[in-house]
Amino acid sequence: MEQGKKIILTGDRPTGRLHIGHYVGSLRRRVELQNSGEYDEIYIMIADAQALTDNADNPEKVRQNIIEVALDYLSAGLDPEKSNLFIQSQVTELTELTFYYMNLVTVQRLQRNPTVKQEMLLRGYSESGDGSDNKAGTPVGFFCYPISQASDITAFKATTVPVGEDQEPMIEQTREIVRKFNSVYGPALVEPEILLPDNAACLRLPGTDGKAKMSKSLGNCIYLSDSADEVRTKVRGMYTDPGHLQVSDPGKVEGNPVFTYLDAFCRPGHFDLFGDCFHGRKVSFDFHSLDEVKAQYRAGGLGDVMVKNFLAAVLNDTLEPMRERRRALEQDLPYVYEVLRRGTEAARAKAAGTLADVKRAMRINYFDPGVLEALIREQSEKYR
Ligand code: TRP
Repeated sequence: MEQGKKIILTGDRPTGRLHIGHYVGSLRRRVELQNSGEYDEIYIMIADAQALTDNADNPEKVRQNIIEVALDYLSAGLDPEKSNLFIQSQVTELTELTFYYMNLVTVQRLQRNPTVKQEMLLRGYSESGDGSDNKAGTPVGFFCYPISQASDITAFKATTVPVGEDQEPMIEQTREIVRKFNSVYGPALVEPEILLPDNAACLRLPGTDGKAKMSKSLGNCIYLSDSADEVRTKVRGMYTDPGHLQVSDPGKVEGNPVFTYLDAFCRPGHFDLFGDCFHGRKVSFDFHSLDEVKAQYRAGGLGDVMVKNFLAAVLNDTLEPMRERRRALEQDLPYVYEVLRRGTEAARAKAAGTLADVKRAMRINYFDPGVLEALIREQSEKYR
């Protein structure tokens, strides 16, 4: 085994463009980790096969969004010289690993996975699965996707998986599969560690409507590729503290998504933007930290309009360089597809190596060089 290597594997389902929840929850961190130079190998996966587990009847949606996610990745700063960007379905070794891991996980254990449970509810999959309640049953592939995710992670011998909090149960299941495999067949697999965002606001960015999660189906997302105007419109419509009616009223910061976004995005350099945030009028506030903004909001006298204008300016400051890169990349799709092709090639080579290790450990590598001869000798003993 490649002892001591530090390897990252992570990815996203291509069911839509990536939004600012993806960005603060994982994407921004990946770019930092990539540029830290501390990792020996980095694999970033567009999880189209996983996306198909609940989109079997809409493969076109998944197909169309592969390029959107690739464009979002590259515009956010993932660098193909440092990170392998690849398409999951093209690394067929992953499905083979999944088939063997399936034997190491019980149905009952999968049923306890809290993220899968919640997603089943969200998708309206029936409890009974017999159609008696007019709901569709759960596709077997969907039910098993945590096992396929264990293949994604272990195929690359990943040590580090930077993801959002909702992925924690998947990493835990992966670790269980690794321990089980290694104890039954011998140490072929690496146990990964999860890497969660360190800022609480980034753990789970709420939607613009204040709902717990930003999600395309809820229509409460700000996309990385939204224009500056779209960002301003969406921020203006954001849910805030419903008790903050007059500017002079004291406002609540806790549970107020405008402040959660500021917690996630605001950097010291941003306070210069504050002066421009009140319809061009000069304002007397001179804030130097988010704590000062919050204190003023809590005390009263700081209106939602001004805070929202500030947030829109902060978001646009962050997103503008990405939008610019995206526009350029959209005009050079051959380059983007070449990045994916090369990344996929590298990913396949790595996964093939792990699959060979796995089959060797399981002793199902009958035709490997040297193995066949030994096998013939061994079996011939029976018939002497
Ligand atoms: N489940 C992840 C998501 O919904 C995508 C994913 C698939 C993934 N395989 C993975 C993430 C392996 C990290 C590691 O976005």
